[in-house]
Amino acid sequence: MQALILAGGEGTRLRPLTSTIPKPVVPLVGRPFISYMLEWLRGHGVDDVILGCGFMADAVRQVLGDGASLGIRLRYLEEPRPLGTGGALKFAEGLLGDRFFMLNGDVLTDIDLTAQLRQHELTGARGTLALYPVDDPSAYGLVRCGADGSVREFIEKPGLDELDTNLINAGAYILEHDVLDGMPPAGTNVSIEREVFPTLVGHGLYGYEASGYWLDIGTPARYLKGTYDILEGRVSTQVGRELGEHGLTRVDGASVEGRVVAPALVGAGCSLAPRTLVGDRSVLGEAVRVGEGARIEASVLLEGVSVGAASTISGSIVSRGVTIGEHCHIEGGVVLGEGVKIGSQNTLAAGARIFPGVELPDGAIRF
Ligand code: GDD
Ligand code: MG
Repeated sequence: MQALILAGGEGTRLRPLTSTIPKPVVPLVGRPFISYMLEWLRGHGVDDVILGCGFMADAVRQVLGDGASLGIRLRYLEEPRPLGTGGALKFAEGLLGDRFFMLNGDVLTDIDLTAQLRQHELTGARGTLALYPVDDPSAYGLVRCGADGSVREFIEKPGLDELDTNLINAGAYILEHDVLDGMPPAGTNVSIEREVFPTLVGHGLYGYEASGYWLDIGTPARYLKGTYDILEGRVSTQVGRELGEHGLTRVDGASVEGRVVAPALVGAGCSLAPRTLVGDRSVLGEAVRVGEGARIEASVLLEGVSVGAASTISGSIVSRGVTIGEHCHIEGGVVLGEGVKIGSQNTLAAGARIFPGVELPDGAIRF
């Protein structure tokens, strides 16, 4: 079975994490995000994947290669300019077979695609959309279905007065190739949600109510939630299973003089000085250095980050190569971009986002 993954968005809501790494390969608990999707697809019989890229396609290719190590044939399609979700589909037309999965490239999920495919065959649908219940559908595509599962209405980013169901488009579709016939020509910017699905209503578009785990990782808060859920085994992943066997902590060739509290992942070559505490669902990438007495909680620190003595980091995301001085306090959804330098005695909070290359002098910011 074939799958087209949309991986061409700019990931603006995850900036500055995505200012220097494309969203599909942003590390999540030590692995490029999209490898979780590939592993899930592989488990449902997918062996041929087309990645619809745009933004930083080369960087994606460099990380994932030809997919051989995953047992998948992986091909890359590079749009000359962003064509939107529907335009990316049309752009892939020549490579697509009669029936295929189409996936948004930013969902962490273990929903049952095999069952979705079974329903697709039973109803004889032209398109079957996985649906998932969420508390607030306004940030998603809202889908209203009839009793037989056929889609009655598709409303992308519904207004507050339109929220009469909690079922949203989970970004996992099964499509018949003829869906492409009625679309605007290749090269046109098209939103599949706004311009294609509404025209398929009443013409073989069905919803499949999925259960299991589902999360769009496209904001800092959701990226952190995905991290915690993998570490705690709430979503079925290989990483979670490996961590589980080791009591939910993994320390690979790291020098640990402080304490690591499960669940946590500490990468190779990390060094944790005496009296450090790393825990409460934290992930340290390779070669992270944590100075004496520093505390890291519920945070992600990517490769090569250095944290000064007596600093604390909580509920935040720190990109590659960031340097944080001594006695700093970083908490509450802060996102630091690649290579940022924070001098000592700074306090950052309340979702502050600092972009790549910025240098803050000692004691520059307090709350
Ligand atoms: N190739 C390509 N080209 N991919 C694109 C483009 C493009 O021009 N624009 C967006 N994408 C990719 C993104 O990288 C992402 O993986 C996916 O398409 C969806 O785009 P988002 O920008 O993340 O959309 P969203 O999260 O606001 O809404 C979509 O996902 C929701 C579920 O997470 C919609 O499909 C909603 O209906 C849905 O509920
Ligand atoms: Mg999204």
